[in-house]
Amino acid sequence: MLRNKKILLGVCGSIAAYKAAFLIRLLVKAGADVRVISTTSASDFISPLTLSTLSKNPVLTKFVKNEEGEWNNHVELGLWADLMLIAPLSANTLGKMSNGICDNLLLATYLSAKCPVMVAPAMDLDMYAHPSTQKNLNIIRSFGNMVIDAEDGELASGLSGQGRMAEPENIIQFVESYFSKSQVLAGKKILITAGPTYEAIDPVRFIGNHSTGKMGYALAKTCLTLGAEVVLISGPSNESISENPALQLIKVQSAKEMLVAAEENFAKADIGIMSAAVADYAPKNVADKKIKKSEDTLTIELIRNPDIAKTLGAKKRKNQLLIGFALETDNEEVNAKRKLEAKNFDLIILNSLQDEGAGFAHNTNKVTLITSKDSLSLPLLSKDETANKIIDYVVGLLNQKTGN
Ligand code: PMT
Repeated sequence: MLRNKKILLGVCGSIAAYKAAFLIRLLVKAGADVRVISTTSASDFISPLTLSTLSKNPVLTKFVKNEEGEWNNHVELGLWADLMLIAPLSANTLGKMSNGICDNLLLATYLSAKCPVMVAPAMDLDMYAHPSTQKNLNIIRSFGNMVIDAEDGELASGLSGQGRMAEPENIIQFVESYFSKSQVLAGKKILITAGPTYEAIDPVRFIGNHSTGKMGYALAKTCLTLGAEVVLISGPSNESISENPALQLIKVQSAKEMLVAAEENFAKADIGIMSAAVADYAPKNVADKKIKKSEDTLTIELIRNPDIAKTLGAKKRKNQLLIGFALETDNEEVNAKRKLEAKNFDLIILNSLQDEGAGFAHNTNKVTLITSKDSLSLPLLSKDETANKIIDYVVGLLNQKTGN
């Protein structure tokens, strides 16, 4: 369950910090890739040497790495992780998390993290029961953070009650159960097309469009997080995606190359998602040398490119889902519904260039999900959030299809 999962462990100043060593051992044993951020007060309780030896990675404590001014990039760390786990969580760090205070690397990473966050508080019983602690735990719960309740038992103070950090074995169980519930696409193979296609005119010029691949890459990342195997067929794009054993990235240039890769992989896929902006036409003849300026006008004869989505739609089996996109400028719904039917899509995602922040290049999108029976309009969201909502909907369609 935890094999290849990237876990960012935050360790705060608490006597329970010694348990972080056992926690790291269990995570590493389960196949997770663990990186540790320790607060300075945590280092009084457990040495970075212990934590780095067990995690097999350097322990990060400060923004600045050395005198040359190299720094630990909290944004990258937050993007790297599949899960941020803060264990033990002290009352001090909890108070700062609930109030957006950012005075160390752990808190900056927490604020930048896009992954789920889990915390395991550790305090003396009166500190744990204090209304401000309980209020702060509720505040971070309302942010979507998951709290692994402190356990009952003997405390370092000699008192007995609720406040001990959950035992590492119980934390691991919580983490595993979270990943097993969130792996709704485990065992599913998903083919995604992304980005533009470039249709060569000569060795230096091409016909292309403004697609960046952001939408398609966001969909691929969401599917991977949910446990799917993804084949991402990408036209020329500057987007990046972390290496992952469940990911096959196929880079192509033209619509014809994209078609070949899509046809090769669609038969094995459970779901195909066509988010690429494929050029509908390509030059009939590609000059093998750079075309020189001569006349005032230049005529290039274009021929129709294959329609990748339509080709796959014609081959779609009963148990497969095919999802399309429609980028429209006018008469949006009518055009999208026409494409839904003509290309044999189960769902089409309409984005309109009339909507500010939607479509090409933005980090945001505003889409309407249209099936033959329903339509659901989403507000303007980041492309990551849009991808999450689309995939939620797709999982619902898949469950309807398979009768789950
Ligand atoms: O990449 P970004 O900058 O993030 O922008 C995202 C996006 C705007 C490109 C994306 O959200 C989107 O709308 N993609 C589809 C754009 C498009 O080409 O729409 P279309 O209406 O022309 O095509 C309809 C569908 O057929 C699409 O699923 C398209 O992938 C597919 N198609 C079209 C032509 C063709 N020859 N082959 C195809 O497979």
